[in-house]
Amino acid sequence: MSRAFTLALAAIFAAVWTAPAPSRKAPPWEKPKQVARYLYLENCSICHDLSKPKSPKMGPTLVRFKTAPPAARESLRKYIMFKIRSGGIKMPKFGDVLSEDQIRRLADYLLPDD
Ligand code: HEC
Repeated sequence: MSRAFTLALAAIFAAVWTAPAPSRKAPPWEKPKQVARYLYLENCSICHDLSKPKSPKMGPTLVRFKTAPPAARESLRKYIMFKIRSGGIKMPKFGDVLSEDQIRRLADYLLPDD
């Protein structure tokens, strides 16, 4: 291997290694609800159930949001988004892991369908 080639390889490697992970934008064929479901499954489902009134998982069941009255929707959305960003006593914060768009999708996913 020539020295120039090795240097070029090293440069490419360094560029790829240090590049910030691109925040994943949903391709058009992914429906918003599906995207939110995957976000939930990946990040939240280990600690939260969505549909059961009682749950053995570490976090409380989130069913109360799905069944909330429509008038409470906006304030609950703010609360959920805050909770995801900042976490809690035992809940990790996701503010630097998830984008604002992803956090909004997750909140919508937990709330009643409009
Ligand atoms: C490691 C476990 C864990 C993970 C992962 C986790 N949570 Fe939590 N979550 C908790 C716990 C424990 C609480 C309650 C105590 C607290 O706030 O720390 C909670 C509380 C909440 C609340 C408030 C519930 C209420 O009834 O007021 C919401 C909303 C919530 N989590 C949403 C999420 C979402 C959305 C995700 C995924 C992005 C997530 N959580 C990931 C453990 C977790």
